[in-house]
Amino acid sequence: MEVHRFEKVWIVAALVLVLLFIGTITYGAVDAGVVMVDDSGGQTNTTDPVDGENFREPGVYRTGEDEYDVYVLAQRFSYQPGTGQPIRIPAGSTVTFHVASKDVLHGFELAGTNVNTMAIPGQVATLTAEFDEPDQYGIICNEYCGEGHHEMAGEVIVVPQSEFSANTTANGTNTTANGTNTMTGDTATTTGGT
Ligand code: CUA
Repeated sequence: MEVHRFEKVWIVAALVLVLLFIGTITYGAVDAGVVMVDDSGGQTNTTDPVDGENFREPGVYRTGEDEYDVYVLAQRFSYQPGTGQPIRIPAGSTVTFHVASKDVLHGFELAGTNVNTMAIPGQVATLTAEFDEPDQYGIICNEYCGEGHHEMAGEVIVVPQSEFSANTTANGTNTTANGTNTMTGDTATTTGGT
């Protein structure tokens, strides 16, 4: 049997295309900084994550020099902290987000970055990111969660180191309100477990 020359060219072209597809999928899965959400954050109470294990009162906790834990509670249709009250972290810090939902599936994405996870009821999603420069990031919910889904948003503000400590002192009286209760966070154990 003789295969026509054009036939051979197209067979080869089709095979190359298939290999390219496999290549892009492999690259996207293992080499582009993409990490699947696993269960390392542990489980928590489905309707009241704060009451369960592996999740703390929402807020920013200092866990070491330039290291912070941020506990974010997602619910229809806001982030606590994040919505109305931005999450403030200092530049040059390594931040581990612990995200939990108290009702339905939500998303937690810092727009324009690869910080992106799902918030599954009963599960604590953890992911760590470095924030080198002062900046501002919008938090968006990218999982449809109901009629207010399109309005579910928040903000992370990365402030200069100097401003961060200044701000914590200035707001010393309402540390719970702005979530930066670093005083208690200092000695606290890192139960969030990474
Ligand atoms: Cu929360 Cu969409």
